[in-house]
Amino acid sequence: MVDISTTIGSLRIKNPTMLASGIMDEDAGSMHRMIRSGAGAIVTKSIGLHAREGYPNPTVLELEYGLLNAMGLPNPGIDAYEDELQLLKKSRVPIIGSIYGATPDEFARLADTMQHCGAAAVELNVSCPHAKHYGMEVGCDTQLLYKIVTAVTEQVTIPVFVKISPNVTNIVEIASAAEQGNADAIVAINTVKAMKIDLETRQPILANKTGGYSGRAIKPIGVRCIYDLAQHIKLPLIGVGGITTGQDAVEYFMAGASAVQLGSAVYYRGPDVFRAVCTELKDWMSAHGYTNVSQLVGAALP
Ligand code: FUM
Repeated sequence: MVDISTTIGSLRIKNPTMLASGIMDEDAGSMHRMIRSGAGAIVTKSIGLHAREGYPNPTVLELEYGLLNAMGLPNPGIDAYEDELQLLKKSRVPIIGSIYGATPDEFARLADTMQHCGAAAVELNVSCPHAKHYGMEVGCDTQLLYKIVTAVTEQVTIPVFVKISPNVTNIVEIASAAEQGNADAIVAINTVKAMKIDLETRQPILANKTGGYSGRAIKPIGVRCIYDLAQHIKLPLIGVGGITTGQDAVEYFMAGASAVQLGSAVYYRGPDVFRAVCTELKDWMSAHGYTNVSQLVGAALP
């Protein structure tokens, strides 16, 4: 019998697939749909203290090998989003509240509200590749990141995950700052900073010019980041970036992840991708003699 439940610190999930932040998570209705589709946990849209419109269109492009987006962290602000979270309070799967901000105090206030609204954990988004003041620059400043994570872990009792960027040369140093601040898990990776130019207009197509690239093309980058982190960080790791099939999940587990998040795969394979990935994972594990996800975690590490 194959058991695909997994744990991330104190959080136990019935299967290792989570909905990544930013897709089908703008309201309780779409998140309920993803729960019915078999996701083991749901990460909300990234929410800030105040409403934000985001960038004008075009904000999303389908490219040859993946999706390029620059939404600009659009969200209704934490007070308005509370209503959606209240509708999910009795959810049978954990809801993980994604939050963004610029200062330790902002993050602590947002995390406190997420906890109050029933979130099972918070995910600190410190890695958007293009949102000015709220993006990567927050997560790349290791001293600021340490202060943010410390402020949040001192404020809430639920687990604190930190989502980090691949667009850096010191990913281990960044994760270490989060670890020192008492984070409970590292989520890697956010999207890869990228651009698409229209040959006729000779202009970048996205309104924001640069965006974040996701989908299958970035899977090797995500796997490499998890593999590097697993050798230096003691915290549980959650892999994200291009996971589309059960075998993709196996690859991330072997690199050191204990769970995975799916984002673009929902676009490519439809909302039922969670059930499909779990079936593929179980089939692969049973064909290869594995009975538990933990047996795969870190199997490729030196
Ligand atoms: O454009 C966006 O809202 C992207 C956010 C992120 O990548 O974290």
